[in-house]
Amino acid sequence: MTVTQPAGVGCPFLNPQKLFEDLAGARTGQGLPHSDTFEGRVVGRYDEIVQALHDPETFSSQPTVGTVPSPWREQFEGRVPSRGTLLGLDNPDHDRLRSSVNSFFMPRKLGRYEGWIREQAHLMVDGFVEDGRTELKLSFALPLPLKVIAHVVGLDSHRSEWIGAALGFFMGPRDIYHPGTPDEKAQLLLDLHDYILEVMDERKHNRRDDLISHIWNERESGAVEMTDFEMLSMFPGLMLAGHETSSNLICMGLSHLLADPNRYAAAQKDDTSRAEALEELFRYESAITGMKRLVTRDVSLGGTQLKAGETVFLAYAAGSRDATKFSHSDDIDFDRDWAVPHLGFGQGIHACLGAPLARLLLRIELEVLHERLPDLRLGAPYDELEYTVVSEGRGMVSLPLEWTPVRVAERASAPVIDALHSAAIPVTVSARRLVTEKVLELTLETSSPDIVRWEPGAHLDLELPDGSLRQYSLCGQTASSELRIAVLKEDSGRGGSKLIHDQVKVGDRLSIRGPRNHFRLKPAQFLLFVAGGIGITPLLPMIEEAERRGTPWRLLFLGRERKLMPYVEDLVQRHPANVYVWPSSERGRYNLDDIWSRVPADDAFVYACGPNELLAGLEESAARHDAELRLVVERFAAQKVEHLPNRPIEVQMSRTGKTVTVGVDENVLDVLNREGASILSTCREGTCGTCEVRVLEGVPEHRDSVLSLEERLANQTMMTCVSRCRGRRLVLEA
Ligand code: FES
Repeated sequence: MTVTQPAGVGCPFLNPQKLFEDLAGARTGQGLPHSDTFEGRVVGRYDEIVQALHDPETFSSQPTVGTVPSPWREQFEGRVPSRGTLLGLDNPDHDRLRSSVNSFFMPRKLGRYEGWIREQAHLMVDGFVEDGRTELKLSFALPLPLKVIAHVVGLDSHRSEWIGAALGFFMGPRDIYHPGTPDEKAQLLLDLHDYILEVMDERKHNRRDDLISHIWNERESGAVEMTDFEMLSMFPGLMLAGHETSSNLICMGLSHLLADPNRYAAAQKDDTSRAEALEELFRYESAITGMKRLVTRDVSLGGTQLKAGETVFLAYAAGSRDATKFSHSDDIDFDRDWAVPHLGFGQGIHACLGAPLARLLLRIELEVLHERLPDLRLGAPYDELEYTVVSEGRGMVSLPLEWTPVRVAERASAPVIDALHSAAIPVTVSARRLVTEKVLELTLETSSPDIVRWEPGAHLDLELPDGSLRQYSLCGQTASSELRIAVLKEDSGRGGSKLIHDQVKVGDRLSIRGPRNHFRLKPAQFLLFVAGGIGITPLLPMIEEAERRGTPWRLLFLGRERKLMPYVEDLVQRHPANVYVWPSSERGRYNLDDIWSRVPADDAFVYACGPNELLAGLEESAARHDAELRLVVERFAAQKVEHLPNRPIEVQMSRTGKTVTVGVDENVLDVLNREGASILSTCREGTCGTCEVRVLEGVPEHRDSVLSLEERLANQTMMTCVSRCRGRRLVLEA
């Protein structure tokens, strides 16, 4: 297949085979050269690209996505969003809409798709493995990402070929893979939007484990406000970017690996080597050449004065080969430490949303191709492989491959890991009783006691009759097949507790998810429980557990009025020597600093649950008494955290034992990477989840917008690019 290059004079950025040489000229020359191809001034130096990416107000994304061409504008009106995809949106709309999908694409969470993706890759290879040769782009590199992204979004992956043809409308002349006139593709695109709307409507009432359901959940929780049309606008652009870039990345990456058999063997040693090789290949030749930005105010960039209204092209491909940032930058080196992150997926608020999915998919693709295609080699000379025309995207026209043919063997099915993850468990309300004027206790019975085993400290998600989810601590007996929760009626809440009090009756059938637990009891010599009002609920089974273990314990029960404190009389009656009740209406405010003198120094923990104000006070008090590691808290709601001013913090790296200081102007990610931690990053703004690390000790100050409330409260991981520490020290798995 041959692609004719457009004729053009005066602009160097036309020849796809010479693109990197031309970009090197833009990087090392004076100022910012104008390019007809990229329709603006080309920014090629790493620091200047990064500066623009992190200043979206000055460098608007408006020109990134073109508008619908005039012949179809009327036809598309009200059915196809005129400026689809997040890539072309500026703030505040960008952050508002992107916040609905950020947590879905976290690498840790995407891991549940690994088995399914691997199975699809094997099935696709089954189709050509006996032939000994294939054109990889058409047989594997394009169809597999399409199938994957359709499945992840929640569409029928069997229709992925049709979806690809419809998305071809956006690719224009770049779509040389799907036949059809522009009018035919426009009609397909309209049909695709109608189909997505149908699926959105179905998922509104019948959630599954997919992106469409995830966004509905976010919308219903009140975390994100968007219209149905805005929601619709997210998917086509995401699917287009998701499959086109992935297909180009695997083709270009494989060509570079197979050009040198030793390099291919080094990359294919194991999963770790594959991941490391891919990272370097993303730097060496990204599928995104760069992105356009509109300058919104007069500004100086790298010494060049730009005027409001000018367009610049941020050439990621040039920045990732900037020799001032990457040694021997034109060579492939799998041993880089990533102290300086590459720009293969961009950076800043528009960093590639699907980067974690691309990393997972490409690693699986390399693994499966290696496993199934022995003696894999290029089917054409490396120097003669053809690249698509120069544009914002970079890719190959085709990738012919050859190998020693093999018979298709029986393969054991890979596990499909998604059913349990989101399974809803039906329960029946078997009893309801008012514990206080405002606290209602519900007993839920399940026919699946094996699935809902739980430990003290656990909570469950209760699906309300209106479809929304609320979290409640389990407060009954762990050995019982009945689950007990207590619900405080909150007049100023989001309406969930009111709905439960007013509408849920004995005999009603509801659904739960979980239970989950991030408030587990640690082995201890002594336990002090501190409850604030309804915060007593998770502590009730913990008290029973402490009794069972024979661990000495005390309860400090704080509240406004004794009659409003749930379960107080029962507790006092059963454990008169252990329970200390403090109603503030009778006794005034409790001095939290007193707590630490009542707790032995070693192997003693304070478990606290209650309103944010109480828990924040406890944390501050613990910090004053150097007791942060002895305090374990459970929150009901997100802390309204004003970010603390940056202060130096100490971080111990568990793998080397080394402790480093993160200064006020530094971030944890860069400091750890300077010490050789090799933590990957993409956005560097807390939105993609790539730089997540496990927290082994200490309490992070979360500043990201990707972790859920529950995950923040659990404090088991943090995003190192933005988050810091609420105390003085963290121990991180790095
Ligand atoms: Fe994206 Fe840190 S790099 S969250």
